[in-house]
Amino acid sequence: MQKIVAIIRPDRLQVVKKALEDLDHAGMTLTEVRGHGVQRGITEQWRGQTFPVEYLTKVKVEMVVRDEDVEPIVSRIVEAARSGEVGDGKIFIAPVTSAIRIRTGERDEAAL
Ligand SMILES: Nc1ncnc2c1ncn2[C@@H]1O[C@H](COP(=O)(O)OP(=O)(O)OP(=O)(O)O)[C@@H](O)[C@H]1O
Ligand SMILES: [Mg+2]
Repeated sequence: MQKIVAIIRPDRLQVVKKALEDLDHAGMTLTEVRGHGVQRGITEQWRGQTFPVEYLTKVKVEMVVRDEDVEPIVSRIVEAARSGEVGDGKIFIAPVTSAIRIRTGERDEAAL
């Protein structure tokens, strides 16, 4: 199992959700987050220096999926979330060792 964490533009969320609709995946967690990438948000020049003035609002999409589902899901997200401008976001993938469905006690892939 892997956890896909995609940080995307809020205005791309509906497109991303639509792109994932027909794929066989179970749950998804959405969080509104604030952050910056290499451009450090919106920057402002003052006395020759550049300051970060804001953390930009993004949406964090988290999905724990079977290993074989990672690539199809990630490629759909990349395609749907890309505008081509800076700030399109980022995807991180990390291993997940356990999952438990609280209602039934099922574990791991059966719990997804
Ligand atoms: N290394 C990182 N660690 C954690 N979160 C990150 C990281 N890089 C980006 N993010 C998150 O992703 C959001 C979007 O990042 P962004 O797309 O601007 O990345 P970037 O590296 O600056 O790429 P680009 O040059 O395309 O803008 C950030 O606001 C932040 O929330
Ligand atoms: Mg950036």
